[in-house]
Amino acid sequence: MTETAHPRTAPLRARAEIDLAALRANVRALRAHAPTAALMAVVKSDAYGHGAVQCARAAREAGATWLGTATPEEALALRAAGLPGRVMCWLWTPGGPWAEAIEADIDVSVSGMWALREAVAAAEAVGTRARVQLKADTGLGRAGCQPADWPELVAGALAAEARGLITVTGLWSHFACADEPGHPSVQAQLTLFREMVAYAEEQGVRPEVRHIANSPATLTLPESHFDLVRTGIAVYGISPSPELGTPADFGLRPVMTLSASLALVKHVPAGHGVSYGHHYVTPGATTLGLVPVGYADGVPRHASGTGPVLIGGKWRTVAGRVAMDQFVVDLGGDEPEPGAVAVLFGPGDGGEPTAEDWARAAGTIAYEIVTRIGTRVPRVHVKVKEEQGG
Ligand SMILES: Cc1ncc(COP(=O)(O)O)c(C=O)c1O
Repeated sequence: MTETAHPRTAPLRARAEIDLAALRANVRALRAHAPTAALMAVVKSDAYGHGAVQCARAAREAGATWLGTATPEEALALRAAGLPGRVMCWLWTPGGPWAEAIEADIDVSVSGMWALREAVAAAEAVGTRARVQLKADTGLGRAGCQPADWPELVAGALAAEARGLITVTGLWSHFACADEPGHPSVQAQLTLFREMVAYAEEQGVRPEVRHIANSPATLTLPESHFDLVRTGIAVYGISPSPELGTPADFGLRPVMTLSASLALVKHVPAGHGVSYGHHYVTPGATTLGLVPVGYADGVPRHASGTGPVLIGGKWRTVAGRVAMDQFVVDLGGDEPEPGAVAVLFGPGDGGEPTAEDWARAAGTIAYEIVTRIGTRVPRVHVKVKEEQGG
C-alpha cells in the first residue's frame, strides 16, 4: 500500500478515485492491440461509472477518435460538455431525439425500418444530412437487423441516401460470446457479418467504418477488428473476463479506486450479532469497524459475508449483511482510528482487492461492480492533465 495511492485518511465519507493517466495508458495499449483500426471509447452509463465527460476527454487525448454511448441523451450530454469529433449512439426508442442528435452531428444507429424512417424524417425536418449506421444482428439476438430483413433496411437506407437525407457511415454488429474464445458463435457471427457487409456493399453502400469488436474481441481476435474497435471495459482497465487473463496480461490497469473513511471502531464482546438478520456473530471479543457505504452506493448486497476490504494493510471481509448505507467488518482486535481508509477495490498492486474480487464475492461481473457505484459517491478525477503522468 503506497501513500499516494491510498492516503491514510480520506476527507470524504467515500470516494471513487479515477486515475485518468491509467485510462489514457489503457487506450494507448488498446490501440496497440488493434493497430489497423480506429478506436471507439465506449462511455455509456457515465463511462461505466467513471464519469463520462472526464473519461471521454482523456480517451480522446490518448487517440480514441470515436466515442460511443447507448442512449442519445448520453451522446448529447457529451456534445453539451463541448466534446467534438465522432460520437455514436445506438439505443433508440420511437420518438427519440433524432433531430437533436442529427443537428449535433452524432452518428445514429438503426436496427430496423421504424428507426430508419424516424431518422430520415428528422433529417428532412432539420435540413441536415444524418449520419446513419446500420446494425446487423449476426447472432446476439438483441438489437440489430435480422438477415431476412437486411435487404429492406439496406434498400431503404440507399433510397434515403439518394435523396440526400442521410449518409450511411457504418455497418456494424455486436458479439454474444467474444469473452469465450473458441465459442462457435464467434466465427459464425464473423462469417455472417462479412456476408451482410458484402451484401450492403454490393447494393452500393460505402461505409466509412465496419465494426463488430468489443473489448474481448479487440484483445483476442485480430480478424474481428475491421475499421474500428469499440472498447468499453478494457478502457477502464478491467479484463473482460478473468478466464481471458488479468488486466496486466493485456497491458491494462484498473482506473477506479473505491475507498471510504471508517465511521466507527468499537470493542464488542463474543457472541455479538452484527447487522440486519445477525448473519454474523462475533466468535470472540473483538473490534468492529463501520464502513459507511452500502448498497445505495453500489456495494452489492450479494457480497454480504464475502466482500473484501483493505484496512490498515489487512484484508477484512464484510461481516453480516451489507445495508443501504453501511456495512461492518470484524477487525479482529485491531484498533484503527475512525477516519482510517478502507479500500474496497483498486488496481490491486497496493495490496487492495480489485473490482474482480468483488465480482467473485457477489457472483457477478466486474462490469457491474464499477458501473453501479452510486451517484452519492463523488468521483475524484486525478492526473487530469496529460503531463502529470501520461
Ligand atoms: C454495442 C456495444 N458495443 C461495445 C460495447 C463495449 O463492450 P465491452 O465493454 O465489452 O468492451 C458495448 C457494451 O456492452 C455495447 O453495448
